[in-house]
Amino acid sequence: MESSARFMVRALELAARGVGRVSPNPPVGAVAVRDGEIIAEGYHQQFGGPHAERALIQSVPTGSLAGSDLFVTLEPCAHHGKTPPCTEAILETGFRSVSYATEDPNPETRGLGVARLEAAGIVVERGLLDAESRALLAGYLKHTVCGLPLVTAKWAMTVDGRIASVTGDSRWISCPESLARTRAERTHYDGILVGRGTVAIDDPLLTDRSSSDANPTRIVLDSELQLSLESQLVATATEVPVIAFADKSRPGVSDRAARLQQHGVTVEWCDGDATGLSVPCVVERLGSLSMTTVLVEGGADVHGSFISRGCVDRVQVVIGGKIVGGRDAPGPVGGDGYPSMAEAISLSALRTTRVGNDVWIEGAITEAGLGNY
Ligand SMILES: NC(=O)c1ccc[n+]([C@@H]2O[C@H](COP(=O)([O-])OP(=O)(O)OC[C@H]3O[C@@H](n4cnc5c(N)ncnc54)[C@H](OP(=O)(O)O)[C@@H]3O)[C@@H](O)[C@H]2O)c1
Repeated sequence: MESSARFMVRALELAARGVGRVSPNPPVGAVAVRDGEIIAEGYHQQFGGPHAERALIQSVPTGSLAGSDLFVTLEPCAHHGKTPPCTEAILETGFRSVSYATEDPNPETRGLGVARLEAAGIVVERGLLDAESRALLAGYLKHTVCGLPLVTAKWAMTVDGRIASVTGDSRWISCPESLARTRAERTHYDGILVGRGTVAIDDPLLTDRSSSDANPTRIVLDSELQLSLESQLVATATEVPVIAFADKSRPGVSDRAARLQQHGVTVEWCDGDATGLSVPCVVERLGSLSMTTVLVEGGADVHGSFISRGCVDRVQVVIGGKIVGGRDAPGPVGGDGYPSMAEAISLSALRTTRVGNDVWIEGAITEAGLGNY
């Protein structure tokens, strides 16, 4: 690997630490290099905190970075947000060159910061490991360009393609290693969404089960607000937020909304359509709540609606090394499906990983899933 790419790889590793913690800001990492050695590192750790460039600059004594080369995963910002522009800090620090991976689509910054740096005589390299960086920034990029979150649909299924047995039992399809990874990765998302059926049958907690402060907001599609006050979601709603989406036109729903709100649940209203609650309405609302990434953990009806409405950007499938059988045991994607293989959705950028006794398959459905615009 070319040495400059090696530095950007490290900056991307640092950026990944901020995933799920900085929304609606982008997760960004940076390293400073002198004589082929990394001499400082930084990343954006929390929303409202210093950006990666400033975190890096603040981590070392003043003056020690003059004449070094900066590698950063996103074009440095040029505008005043919660913090002053990073381009100012870069100029004050006296970097010799700046290499960034991905252009920032934010119109307040795009091209402006780089123009200021170049005008001041700093050498700027664009697009180093851009595709890798875009994959990491996909949620930020989609939210910045469209105001919508990047949606990943996830399910665990047996080798024979069932997400539950004929009786609805789904615990557990995955091996312990997969379950641990699934829980840990929940913290990478701003929201995690399930249907009312899954809450009724599985009563999930949808957290990472650790003391992590980065648990995503839990979201339930529940037209009539039948969500039980005894459910684990409601019981923990004051600790980790819960949003229930419902249809205001359903009888008795206002009274149930008031009861849930008393228990700390936020109620959002959307109209219904042929599939249930309008999925585009739900996704739009989540975007307006500053969510840049949402994980949809089913069940089958919800996956069917999201996929048929074109609202899924990525899929992540865990195939457990088991066979449960049963003609009536559900598959992962409900609804009417597509009538022919010619119309089936083709995934791109497919990746497989072995985790314990399971195989994970990940892929993109949309260009947004690849971080492309
Ligand atoms: N293996 C896995 O990865 C996995 C993951 C999750 C669940 N599961 C299994 O899946 C089963 C539950 O799945 P399910 O299909 O019965 O239920 P589901 O998809 O979890 O929930 C479906 C319900 O959500 C509500 N809803 C509101 N708007 C909707 C919309 N636009 N599209 C779809 N649903 C909408 C509807 O109830 P209202 O009409 O009342 O709103 C609908 O009946 C359980 O057996 C569970 O164990 C497995």
